[in-house]
Amino acid sequence: MTDTELLFNPFLPDFDADPYPHYQRMRDQDPVHEHPLGFWLVTRYDDVTALLRAKLSVESGNLAGGPIADQFQQLEDSTRALSMLDRDPPDHTRLRALVTKVFTVKAIAALEPMVTDLVDRSLDRVADGGRVDLIDELAFPLPFAVISEMLGTPPADHERLRELSGTLVRSLEVQTDPAVIQAINDAEFELTEMMRDIIEWKRANPADDLLTALIAAEHDGDRLTEDELVAQVLLLYVAGHETTVNLIGNGAIALLRNPDQLALLRATPGLAANAVEELLRYDSPVQQSRRITVAPHTIGGREIPAGAFVIAGLASANRDDRHFGPDANDLRIDRADARTHVSFGAGPHHCLGAALARLEGRLALGKLVTRFPNLSLDGDVAWNGRLNLRGAAKLPVTV
Ligand code: HEM
Repeated sequence: MTDTELLFNPFLPDFDADPYPHYQRMRDQDPVHEHPLGFWLVTRYDDVTALLRAKLSVESGNLAGGPIADQFQQLEDSTRALSMLDRDPPDHTRLRALVTKVFTVKAIAALEPMVTDLVDRSLDRVADGGRVDLIDELAFPLPFAVISEMLGTPPADHERLRELSGTLVRSLEVQTDPAVIQAINDAEFELTEMMRDIIEWKRANPADDLLTALIAAEHDGDRLTEDELVAQVLLLYVAGHETTVNLIGNGAIALLRNPDQLALLRATPGLAANAVEELLRYDSPVQQSRRITVAPHTIGGREIPAGAFVIAGLASANRDDRHFGPDANDLRIDRADARTHVSFGAGPHHCLGAALARLEGRLALGKLVTRFPNLSLDGDVAWNGRLNLRGAAKLPVTV
């Protein structure tokens, strides 16, 4: 079968600029699709939510075989495989409970002054620029600065951490290029070593930060082992960074391309929180989650065999007119059921950082549009070419 004959072909050149017509075709023609490349793709809202809530696995060791199994098998052998995102119960339950102990809604709400200050400083740089790249000036640096500040990692390590986590994040999607897989494994090795050193330093220099709290975290007499601690901190860096870059970047693009909605937001700042939900729905910062069947599993009337790699199409579900109605493809920042999107997943692995992402999105996008009434796109958006963490790599604007 050639590329052009594939019913779902994410390698087409126009795919990353607008994947939504492709997802729509899948929802209408083959909503539980067995792909020739060896994975299954589920695209309707009801099926995606059922899949995420079902008792399926996330542990790569349960894959039956094939090239995807080979890529993810390497993950299974690494320290990173100890992150809660890659573990099933009972490990998942205890890891999540320990991290939740310190990563609380209250702790996140307390970050508002810090995030406000970081946003204001980014926007000061934007104001000086005339024509600027919003990814470089706001979307990219902000989430990294926030998670680094929260964890209390040494500033001297930030540049290298940023580079390495930018490579590691690519492990969240299927890779076919052996050079990319090798680069991911190298980055993981170096990051793991760096994180061990940082943790040792933090043990000697405790402070009022998340890393100190994670080192001390205890739940029912249980604690994180050293390797588990490294894996959760790496997860927080990776999960907390480029996801939010895409919320701010894709969100800004959506608003700039829908001037009526941008005007509505400027006129009604109280809509900012709902606007963030609608932007999360409209152009999902994380387009997919993955699950592995441990036994034959029926979804949408179709049986998927045991050991299969199943992609839950979050971005597709968010545009399903069966759930969001006939205007599912339109941006409407006052949409009443916007918050029922699945951009943060659903079920046991539902995003632990959702409150933090919402805070960052609301402050960054809300302040951006109110501070710059003449903000407009000034050139072509360049997409980052990623299938899962799909977002803009370049977003030129004038203020
Ligand atoms: C899990 C999306 C920001 C931490 C997830 C999952 C999704 C997601 C879809 C579930 C994956 C699955 O079902 O397998 C997002 C989006 C974000 C965002 C769209 C930004 C707009 C953050 C931030 C943090 C974070 C800021 C923390 C600093 C986590 C963690 C998990 C997770 C720890 C794993 C939860 C588990 O396995 O139990 N995220 N995330 N995320 N996210 Fe986020």
